[in-house]
Amino acid sequence: MDFISLITFLLFLTPAPSSSQNLGNKNNIVLTNRKMMFLKQENLTSYAVIFDAGSTGSRVHVYNFDQNLNLLHIGNNIEFTDKIKPGLSAYAENPEKGAKSLIPLLEEAESVVPENLHSKTLLKLGATAGLRLLDGDSADKILQGVRDLFNNRSTFKVQSDAVSIIDGTQEGSYMWVTVNYAYGNLGKSYKNTMGVIDLGGGSVQMTYAVSKKTAQNAPKVADGEDPYIKKLVLKGKQYDLYVHSYLSFGKEATRAQVLKSTNGSANPCLLAGFNGTFTYTGEKYTAFASPSGANFDKCKNIILNKVLKVNAPCPYSNCTFGGIWSGGGGSGQKNLFAASAFHYLTEDVGLVDQNVANSKIHPVDIRNEAKRACALNFEDVKSTYPLLTEDKRPYVCLDLLYQHLLLVHGFGLKQKQEITVGGGIQYQNYVVEAAWPLGTAVEAISALPKFERLMYFI
Ligand SMILES: *[C@@H]1O[C@H](CO)[C@@H](O)[C@H](O)[C@H]1NC(C)=O
Ligand SMILES: *[C@@H]1O[C@H](CO)[C@@H](O)[C@H](O)[C@H]1NC(C)=O
Ligand SMILES: *[C@@H]1O[C@H](CO)[C@@H](O)[C@H](O)[C@H]1NC(C)=O
Ligand SMILES: *[C@@H]1O[C@H](CO)[C@@H](O)[C@H](O)[C@H]1NC(C)=O
Ligand SMILES: *[C@@H]1O[C@H](CO)[C@@H](O)[C@H](O)[C@H]1NC(C)=O
Repeated sequence: MDFISLITFLLFLTPAPSSSQNLGNKNNIVLTNRKMMFLKQENLTSYAVIFDAGSTGSRVHVYNFDQNLNLLHIGNNIEFTDKIKPGLSAYAENPEKGAKSLIPLLEEAESVVPENLHSKTLLKLGATAGLRLLDGDSADKILQGVRDLFNNRSTFKVQSDAVSIIDGTQEGSYMWVTVNYAYGNLGKSYKNTMGVIDLGGGSVQMTYAVSKKTAQNAPKVADGEDPYIKKLVLKGKQYDLYVHSYLSFGKEATRAQVLKSTNGSANPCLLAGFNGTFTYTGEKYTAFASPSGANFDKCKNIILNKVLKVNAPCPYSNCTFGGIWSGGGGSGQKNLFAASAFHYLTEDVGLVDQNVANSKIHPVDIRNEAKRACALNFEDVKSTYPLLTEDKRPYVCLDLLYQHLLLVHGFGLKQKQEITVGGGIQYQNYVVEAAWPLGTAVEAISALPKFERLMYFI
């Protein structure tokens, strides 16, 4: 450790005088302190570079944190980000080319991070849906290519787990970190955190913080399955997160199950006048309405009994649905942030304002909108919901009703419980996206030994 770093290290351990105490005070010690503070703030920053390898493209995020783990500006924004198309999964035939496709983004990140900090800057890549679906060892080969690229070409710090496929539970838990980070909840008691429910195409993730006692008594899972509880240390505080990815309860997976239950005959979740097909993971289902159109109660019955299986036996003290442990509820789940499909659909049907990052609604609002949607003729959907894209129009009754039933009958929310739906969260004068990459960066830097974090500026 050189002299400057030693001084700064010691300063970090003593509380810095606030700037208001400093104002107008001309005595030497404070002046010295001021100089030191200047030094400290200039220098004690850490960067993280996170690649999000999605199904349609790859995106890089560069974050810059101060010593308190607050985000600093990069240029005019709160992060640096850029993307390329197509995604890594398009390179199944040529993994090396796939890895090389990331070079422009890597070079941009290298130019954003000050050169003297490169060797201390964590570089990570998480691959989501697209790569998970590739056949054979294609995904492994692509990821190995990326690992080689990172190791051989980048000047950043690459840990052994730097390149990986992110599964539903990881996505859920890092999204929880992002949301609670942006709301300023990290470091506080678990009781003051917010739960996150993330509705994707194939699965829905529920993540919220529970008490130590609940965590200790969590049911064990079979080998190879993700445990119900994940422990994370964030801003010096340990959290026990209930995190579960409810596979095949996503938006598209649910449509498939609902249509499968009537395949070949009319389905009561479809709007009058619709006649088409729906394909999910290679399986094709007929999708046509009865002459009288959708029937709210019949559709509800299919969702409750064929999809959610709310009456399935529960081997634990408390289940959500389908015999899955609920985590017991509690303060960490009292406030919920509902993301992804909850955000898109409520926006598309005009339940929330599309010009704001997030909004408060209640499950009953979604129910009332479902009543309205299910009574429509298919040909009237376009004029009723102009924001809804063509592919979503036939399923607007089904999708709304599912979201409502999932919240109330699946996760046990009250009809009038206030929840937040959105795609982002206000942070300073910016909106940070409610997605896993920022949470991954926050967790990775939180996990570094304090000493290593402090040495970042050298
Ligand atoms: C650290 O502070 C010194 C003195 O203020 C400055 O010259 C140097 O550029 C700073 N380093 C970084 C990475 O900002
Ligand atoms: C990177 O390094 C690995 C092993 O260290 C080597 O097998 C590989 O060929 C290298 N790749 C490139 C693109 O240089
Ligand atoms: C659904 O029914 C159609 C014909 O009615 C059939 O061709 C198709 O294979 C069925 N799909 C499934 C997944 O059973
Ligand atoms: C739906 O369309 C197919 C052909 O596209 C037709 O054979 C079928 O009879 C139609 N079903 C209904 C209920 O209109
Ligand atoms: C189970 O749920 C009930 C009611 O929903 C609640 O009163 C009870 O505390 C829960 N039990 C556990 C062990 O979490």
